[in-house]
Amino acid sequence: MIIEIEDLAVVYPDGTKAIDGISLSVERGESVALIGANGAGKTSLLLALAGVLEAAEGVIKIEGVKLDAKTARRIGRSVGLVFQNPDDQLFMPRVCDDVAFGPLNFGFSKDEAKRLTDETLRRLGIAHIGERSPLKLSGGEKRIAAIATVLVMQPPVMLFDEPAAFLDPKAKRTLIDLMNGLSPVKCVATHDLSFASAVCDRVIMLKNGKVFADGSVELLEDAGLMEACGL
Ligand SMILES: Nc1ncnc2c1ncn2[C@@H]1O[C@H](COP(=O)(O)OP(=O)(O)OP(=O)(O)O)[C@@H](O)[C@H]1O
Ligand SMILES: [Mg+2]
Repeated sequence: MIIEIEDLAVVYPDGTKAIDGISLSVERGESVALIGANGAGKTSLLLALAGVLEAAEGVIKIEGVKLDAKTARRIGRSVGLVFQNPDDQLFMPRVCDDVAFGPLNFGFSKDEAKRLTDETLRRLGIAHIGERSPLKLSGGEKRIAAIATVLVMQPPVMLFDEPAAFLDPKAKRTLIDLMNGLSPVKCVATHDLSFASAVCDRVIMLKNGKVFADGSVELLEDAGLMEACGL
């Protein structure tokens, strides 16, 4: 199992219990959609998996290693989170600086970071925007640039928070092809059910911080279940 979660609880400083006793595991090769109503806990779960939010209770293991203050940096290399808002991810003067940031931060040489950056930009079809300011890109270009900053590290686990939001139909199709071509384990929080079916093979439905249902993507066609989940 690449991700193991046992009895996880996540509590915000104001006392809100966003994740309330979740246990689940994800195998290599799986692509999992996280579905649930607003406030169900999808983002909180992704933030906990990425080590951004600390577990109040329970255990998260990534590739068998328990996530805690001591292991967070090491595990940070294995887990990449694409934030819902690309503006939270892109902060350097040029796209290529943002993409090189991870490799440089993890000790790659300048030459190696540049090589990895060029390769990633080319692979994602955005070599032509490498020199541009992230501030001046379209929403879809920003999204792909944000994915590049994570993909460049080739993490075995990639987490996506609402990746299809604000994309036009063509950009969405491009993103679907792109994500289907990625070999890492994917966990995708989304309200876009057709996007979830196109990219994922498993669905985990969250309700009030708990797992409400877990199964194949066909669960999305179960109208009664969806309604009971608050969707
Ligand atoms: N920074 C915060 N401080 C306190 N409570 C928070 C914070 N962020 C989220 N919450 C609460 O935690 C719960 C889960 O929120 P979360 O953002 O994980 O939901 P979500 O499933 O991602 O929702 P959405 O579909 O709207 O993005 C909600 O009750 C929410 O109000
Ligand atoms: Mg969210």
